[in-house]
Amino acid sequence: MIDHATIERILDAAEISDVVSDFVTLRKRGVNMLGLCPFHNEKTPSFTVSPAKGIFKCFGCGKGGNSVNFIMEHENLSYPEALKWLAKKYNIEVVEHEDSEEQKQLNDERESLMIVSGYAQKYFTRFLWEENEGRSVGLSYFRERGFREDILKKFEVGYAPDGKTPFTDAAQKEGYKIEFLEKTGLTIKRDDWIRDRFAGRVMFPIHNLAGRVTAFGGRILKEDKKIAKYLNSPESEIYHKSKVVYGIFQAKREMSKVDKCYLVEGYTDVMSMHQVGIENVVASSGTALTSDQIRLIKRFTPNITIIYDGDAAGIKASMRGIDLVLEEGMNVKVLPLPEGEDPDSFARKKGASGYLEYIQENETDFIQFKTRLLLKNSENDPVAKARLISDVIRSVSVIPDTITRSVYIKECSKLLGVNEEILYSEVQKQKRKHNDDFRKNQVREQTRKAAKQLAKPKEIKAPRFLEEELVFLRFLLKYYNFPVFELDSEDENSNEVLTAAEYMIEELEKDDLVSENELFQTIFNEVSENLENKDFDPWKHFIYHSNSEVSALATDLLSEKFVESKIWKRGGGFTEQEEDILELLVPKIVNELKARKIKIMLREIEDEINDSYKNDNFDNVIDLQSKYMNLKRVEKYLAEKLGSRTIN
Ligand code: CTP
Ligand code: MN
Repeated sequence: MIDHATIERILDAAEISDVVSDFVTLRKRGVNMLGLCPFHNEKTPSFTVSPAKGIFKCFGCGKGGNSVNFIMEHENLSYPEALKWLAKKYNIEVVEHEDSEEQKQLNDERESLMIVSGYAQKYFTRFLWEENEGRSVGLSYFRERGFREDILKKFEVGYAPDGKTPFTDAAQKEGYKIEFLEKTGLTIKRDDWIRDRFAGRVMFPIHNLAGRVTAFGGRILKEDKKIAKYLNSPESEIYHKSKVVYGIFQAKREMSKVDKCYLVEGYTDVMSMHQVGIENVVASSGTALTSDQIRLIKRFTPNITIIYDGDAAGIKASMRGIDLVLEEGMNVKVLPLPEGEDPDSFARKKGASGYLEYIQENETDFIQFKTRLLLKNSENDPVAKARLISDVIRSVSVIPDTITRSVYIKECSKLLGVNEEILYSEVQKQKRKHNDDFRKNQVREQTRKAAKQLAKPKEIKAPRFLEEELVFLRFLLKYYNFPVFELDSEDENSNEVLTAAEYMIEELEKDDLVSENELFQTIFNEVSENLENKDFDPWKHFIYHSNSEVSALATDLLSEKFVESKIWKRGGGFTEQEEDILELLVPKIVNELKARKIKIMLREIEDEINDSYKNDNFDNVIDLQSKYMNLKRVEKYLAEKLGSRTIN
């Protein structure tokens, strides 16, 4: 257990914006600071830090807390682990009382893996610089490739001695448990044999955002076609290949400073670019780029330039990357290198100024890149050209921002010589298809998650809700920004519309109708608060809600587990799609809910009137009666409205 005074010292030192800034680029916004939330995927910042209050809060995903909570959440640590993490950052000595054995084991697995990895890195690095084998084999290899010492040290590279188990033996002698050596993949152990995974390789440690080593890549030195050139650590508790980019720790400051990131393929590409002074560079390390990796980059900058080898494979890989980056709402450029060069060889050839000059001259917007490339292959071939157009259109259609999209459509129209209108309608078509797929996927994923989280899937206790309330909520979320009415306007050209949410919220608020049901009221209020927020996405907001009951309800509502209500089905089969008759359905749903509420209120008032009679409280009776009459009038009015709005 960590000593109480130590905890206080840590809490005093760990200033929230300082802690958060290690991971998130924050900009000042009044007394607070604002950035992109590291806990969920977002395109506009809703992650707020209040230095005055010492807390962070994301208005997108609802996560919030103090600096210890932040580290717990971000680094996936327990409370005491997070405290120790902060103590290390602020050089505070941790005084600990005895822990129970099981407590220790529980807390320490991840930390142990980190510690073993850290030890291994130091061992490999020491071996590279100080041992004969390391110097003559490893260091001379790096030197031959032209790496400067400061770069080798910056990336903490090393050398793993050749042989069966020299590293494992050394680690065990130092007291590191075989269990953790195995779990990090540093040692490979089977029933009857054991060996070092990386023996005889130069080592590239992979750092997490905080700079701790979580995995390694090891390169063989001999040319041997039969053995993989690079060997990587296996997946572990602390290393998920698809969520990591190589070099992010060394690049993050420069990335947010120059507001741009270069993406390359390999370890040595990153190091060589640092060597010529370009430090905002990360590598996907040979895997196909993933959206988790892109989001990691996006925490520091929305601008990404993909540098690729000028050969066919390189071009193909960068094409794949482009759409994925666009989809995350980032700006993407591409930089083709001359055939036969990779970022590493090219940096060595060109040096700092030559490299930067080349970048300036050859960096291309993705759309020019794609069209030029594809045009080359489709001259005088109308079929190929049509294919080209739809290919480019597909890329444009995944861009989330409308304005950016329309800029690209303009450019596209110029480059391809195709009418803008036609391109627009193609983009719309693609977008609709894409949205459908996206939503289906999201619902599937969320439903699975929710089901996994609750050992016994929680049924929505329908009796707690009025049926009308559930229908109301489903429409509110599902058709949130669907236009329902056009507003009368002086200006004939402006077609201002009222969305479903605006109408539904306004109608209930106008009559001060609140719900007894807390979940209903929470969802209602949060939609209401966000009406003006044009980036508000009710799907994301409620599905990722911090209140698990809200998120379970939203998941069910949006996953169409609710069959449409009997309310408007009583006339029998109508065939229209809901969304085609929203202007009829939405007011009906609102009025049904109002009518139901009024009925309940009337019954309550009747009871109260009876009570008041019994108690000879006649003043009260008069009051209640006039209330009753008013409600009756509203009830009648609603009944007429509902009657006149039959659907069939
Ligand atoms: N890679 C890998 N496993 C392999 C080959 C490659 O993990 N068998 C990853 C490494 O991260 C490597 C990157 O893919 O850095 C790019 O591969 P490649 O271009 O083949 O290697 P280079 O980085 O050019 O390595 P070197 O210059 O050392 O040959
Ligand atoms: Mn190379």
